[in-house]
Amino acid sequence: MNSARYLKYRRQLIPLIFILLSANSAFSQTVNPLAADPRAARAGGGIFRAQCASCHGADAKGIETIDAPDLTMIWTRAESTDQVVFQMIRNGIPGSIMPPHSFPDPEIWMLVSYLHSVAVTGTSKQIVGNPTRGSELFQSSCLLCHRVDGSGGSLGPDLSAITARRAQAALTDSIRNPSVNIARRYKPVSLLTDDNERVRGAIKSEDAFSIQVMDSNQVLRGFSKSALRELSRDEPSLMPSFSESQLSETDINDILSYLQSVR
Ligand code: HEC
Ligand code: HEC
Repeated sequence: MNSARYLKYRRQLIPLIFILLSANSAFSQTVNPLAADPRAARAGGGIFRAQCASCHGADAKGIETIDAPDLTMIWTRAESTDQVVFQMIRNGIPGSIMPPHSFPDPEIWMLVSYLHSVAVTGTSKQIVGNPTRGSELFQSSCLLCHRVDGSGGSLGPDLSAITARRAQAALTDSIRNPSVNIARRYKPVSLLTDDNERVRGAIKSEDAFSIQVMDSNQVLRGFSKSALRELSRDEPSLMPSFSESQLSETDINDILSYLQSVR
């Protein structure tokens, strides 16, 4: 950590914090009180480089060797609200090397603003495809695991509005090679219980003693780690990869144009 640099940023932050406090803001709120202030993202960038870059990389794109995730991708998930990200920074992530941070609330909100400023974003351009055909393909190949507009499975993330949050090429890539970048809460695991039941699923939460998994039948189950015979994290994504012969480029574009058409 470069503490001289951090101190310099803190000094720059003080006037901003003072303005906010005197505006009678309650910082334990659920929306980012600094969202509209461009200075907040810049200040957050300074804090990020001093406190977070050693693990997440100077560009926030993650460092694979220590399994610190790409933070430019967090907003692609429907469940990543400002409040959720705020809490992850404050509390850290139990069971991982991600530490808790005791910064004042405004500085955590600045980090949230910064993370928005580096987020990968989707397209507002019309995706060329046939949404009616895409809807049929989605129902036959994807709905089992993905919700859209309130219906569908939940082994994978909700794909409502995904085209607004991720670029078309990146989405195509996720469909062709799902194991390349697997989001938190969808990390695959395979385990063997003490009565020799094999369970595959996604890790929903975990601490030193227990692990909660959504199994491949989409049932949430909890296990005590000491009662497991095997626990393997080195697994491919729970999503099958779709090759060109299973889904052509045209098929994928039809699916994406369907996803774009549901608001
Ligand atoms: C010592 C290394 C380390 C430091 C320092 C660190 N992180 Fe992390 N962070 C991680 C790891 C590892 C994970 C993944 C934890 C997991 O999912 O099990 C993570 C996860 C996260 C997540 C959740 C990502 C997701 O996909 O949901 C956020 C947000 C985050 N870190 C932000 C920060 C911020 C902001 C800072 C600086 C204030 C920071 N981290 C400092 C290692 C670190
Ligand atoms: C057997 C369950 C399953 C099926 C079937 C499935 N997926 Fe997935 N999908 C997942 C899981 C689990 C993830 C999260 C892990 C990952 O990213 O690999 C995911 C991730 C994704 C992502 C990345 C989402 C993000 O937030 O970036 C996209 C896009 C996606 N799926 C699209 C599709 C499409 C389109 C189909 C149908 C052609 C499909 N999936 C079929 C389980 C499934």
